[in-house]
Amino acid sequence: MNGDNEKGNQVNIQWFPGHMAKARRLLTENLSKVDAVVELLDARAISSSENPEIARILKNKPRVVVANKSDLADPAVTEAFIKEFRSRGIRLISSDSKTGSDVKAVKAAVLELMSEKLFRKKERGMRQYTVKTMVVGIPNVGKSTFINKLCGRASAVTGDRPGVTRGEQWLRVDESIVLLDTPGLLWPKFDDQRTGYCLASIGSIKDDILDRAEIASFLLLYILDNYPGVLAEKYSIDEEKLLSAEDADPDNVVLSRIGTVGFPALEAAAIKKGCIRKGGVADIDRACAMVLDDFRGGKLGRISLDRPVSGTVIPEGAGEAVSL
Ligand code: G4P
Repeated sequence: MNGDNEKGNQVNIQWFPGHMAKARRLLTENLSKVDAVVELLDARAISSSENPEIARILKNKPRVVVANKSDLADPAVTEAFIKEFRSRGIRLISSDSKTGSDVKAVKAAVLELMSEKLFRKKERGMRQYTVKTMVVGIPNVGKSTFINKLCGRASAVTGDRPGVTRGEQWLRVDESIVLLDTPGLLWPKFDDQRTGYCLASIGSIKDDILDRAEIASFLLLYILDNYPGVLAEKYSIDEEKLLSAEDADPDNVVLSRIGTVGFPALEAAAIKKGCIRKGGVADIDRACAMVLDDFRGGKLGRISLDRPVSGTVIPEGAGEAVSL
């Protein structure tokens, strides 16, 4: 991992590309131009994709939070998060921007949030007040796709790499609402190693920030722990054997289990799926690409990497929260 200060389960991943500093400046500048904010999170990693920097900059600005890519996430976990957000007084709406399901619900939620202001404007004789809204979120959560669907045409630039959306772009949904797209914003340092793995898994930080084999091993370990049967079916992995071989180091359970369970799972998947180099050894690079592509494309099923804070009941059917 390209991180320093490793200590126990904590590691600070120090990195902050120049365009992120610009994105932060833009977000701060644009805040005064808008009435409300729509913050997009990735439904597969709701806690990890909630950028603490965005929350700090937004302060008390009215905001609707969207769990996007819900088509790829575990529905029971998304539901549990909706309840957990509600208990914090925040409206979380799940959405699949690719098909457009529920994007209209987001617009309705913004207008509802602004209803008092709209009422006051009307009382003062304004015929139509257009609510100015800013769409924010970390890279690759689907901001451009969401905006395109809401506007009903391909009006914002989309891309497949983190940080592709640049500059200021106002887009009209209809006479009631306009949207301001902002570049994806990450924060300068992850205090929690697990957040880094989750963000890498969903493609919000570039694969080369962390070790790809570590990311893929983390994913396989997490799926073994939380979604039993998935890897046996997909990669013909002997799950029981892998889990029985673990020998976790109590000083760093996450990293040691990635090494003792996750990495052997990656090797096993490589061999079973024919990712083999000369001499019969596992081709780890190809196996990493396979696992990451399968996860990102939803081929391993609907998987959520985060769970709401303890105390929130996870409905039946969701994978159980465990140590990772
Ligand atoms: P960004 O502006 O936040 O950086 O994200 P963007 O809209 O560019 O979307 C990033 C990728 O996520 C795109 O895939 C997009 O299609 C996909 N995506 C966005 N919303 C959803 C969703 O709700 N569900 C699913 N399954 N995918 C979603 P891509 O492979 O990079 O591009 P494309 O080939 O699909 O266009």
